[in-house]
Amino acid sequence: MSDRYIDFANSSIGHRLVGALGLPAPTRLERWQAGRLRPVEGALLIGGGPLAEHVSAFANRLTDAIYSYSTEPSIATAWIPGHGPKLKAVVFDASDLLHADQLKQLREFFQPLMKNLDHCAHLVILGRDPQTLRDPFAASAQRALEGFSRSLAKELRNGGTLQLIYVGEGAEAQLEGPLRFFLSPKSAFVSGQVLRLTPCSTPVTDWTRPLAGRKALVTGAARGIGAAIAETLARDGADVILLDVPPAKTDLEALTARLGGRSITLDICAEDAAAQLIEQLSDGLDIVVHNAGITRDKTLANMTPEFWDAVLAVNLNAPQVLTKALLDSGTLHDNGRVILLASISGIAGNRGQTNYAASKAGLIGLAQAWAPLLSERGISINAVAPGFIETQMTARIPFGLREAGRRMSSLGQGGLPQDVAEAVAWLAQPGTGAFTGQALRVCGQSVLGA
Ligand SMILES: NC(=O)c1ccc[n+]([C@@H]2O[C@H](COP(=O)([O-])OP(=O)(O)OC[C@H]3O[C@@H](n4cnc5c(N)ncnc54)[C@H](O)[C@@H]3O)[C@@H](O)[C@H]2O)c1
Repeated sequence: MSDRYIDFANSSIGHRLVGALGLPAPTRLERWQAGRLRPVEGALLIGGGPLAEHVSAFANRLTDAIYSYSTEPSIATAWIPGHGPKLKAVVFDASDLLHADQLKQLREFFQPLMKNLDHCAHLVILGRDPQTLRDPFAASAQRALEGFSRSLAKELRNGGTLQLIYVGEGAEAQLEGPLRFFLSPKSAFVSGQVLRLTPCSTPVTDWTRPLAGRKALVTGAARGIGAAIAETLARDGADVILLDVPPAKTDLEALTARLGGRSITLDICAEDAAAQLIEQLSDGLDIVVHNAGITRDKTLANMTPEFWDAVLAVNLNAPQVLTKALLDSGTLHDNGRVILLASISGIAGNRGQTNYAASKAGLIGLAQAWAPLLSERGISINAVAPGFIETQMTARIPFGLREAGRRMSSLGQGGLPQDVAEAVAWLAQPGTGAFTGQALRVCGQSVLGA
């Protein structure tokens, strides 16, 4: 469903009216287009502590316009506020800010560039995980980065985004993958996120087709977010296997024919679903995306056992049972990737969705609990928690609630299935074994939830 308010707010009359009335003015977000090669098309400013050097080492693969505040001769050109080009991307290493009085460097670095950001600029702050620091003052200073970055993300205009990445000791070599994602339009609808990067030994060899040679199963792939995920994984080189219920067979097969993959019609709650999957995937699997999901909304006072059971069965029980079967049977290879489609309802809770929110929170818990056990096999498991995404599911929401859902985020609009698909495709890459047990929100920094 299209968002007519964005069209209006970006028209010449609408722009003036929206400004005069103080209404939300969502920007049309820039998204990744097929055939694009560089993550950053424009100026990238790099600064801060020692991790900036790691970033500078591969920055010429991100863009050919690299800047720093420094006037020392280096691979970067000096960027002078008000004179340099508008910035499309910014990386600041704050990992060496270990005392309260050093935090002023955040203001000193970011203030001059706030009025010099390009349309849809992407900013990343790097730090060290406070939980790994023994000195309480140092841990406190690094934790302060969370409050700073989440607040600054809310102050960005024109579709800008900002994330904080805590880089583990030994994980510096893994920075290129996340920066390719978070500095590019692939992360257009992700903002205000805090992620933890750990070491990982499997690198991406070809950034144009990072999933080449990998087999990926997507459940609920006939439409909506699942179809976008299948398409994006195929774009990135994966051999895709699309699964959906028998009534969705026609749509599923049409998409499969277009993507050149394979399809499986199966109800993931069927008693023999695990056995059928193992049989049909006898040549193994590298990536499994548990996207199939349903809603059966009612306040708890009116919740029927059928509504409760159906949601828990599809959204939580099936991903648990099927993932365990794929692991135990050896169908899911070592260094595999498991991605669970959760929801911000599972983080913030939502009226009328006790069943749905319980199932989605359960998926986040599953990723957290299983990650340390699966890491022995190099397998990562993460949840992706979409906010308001424009699909058939959200088109059914009554108008008032739908408008509120769209506007209650820093980006002031709903996301597209492509936004969720890009996050899933990034988490499916070999190098993202460095992220595991985490929940990545794709919600435009929705005001709902922490
Ligand atoms: N749309 C949003 O705003 C939003 C927000 C947060 C989370 N999500 C989650 O993202 C996922 C996809 O959402 P969507 O909006 O594309 O939904 P959708 O209803 O458009 O598509 C869901 C797909 O899952 C399939 N499916 C349902 N039950 C199944 C079963 N038992 N076995 C196999 N396939 C089954 C459906 O046939 C359908 O093709 C869901 O898990 C949903 O909870 C969506």
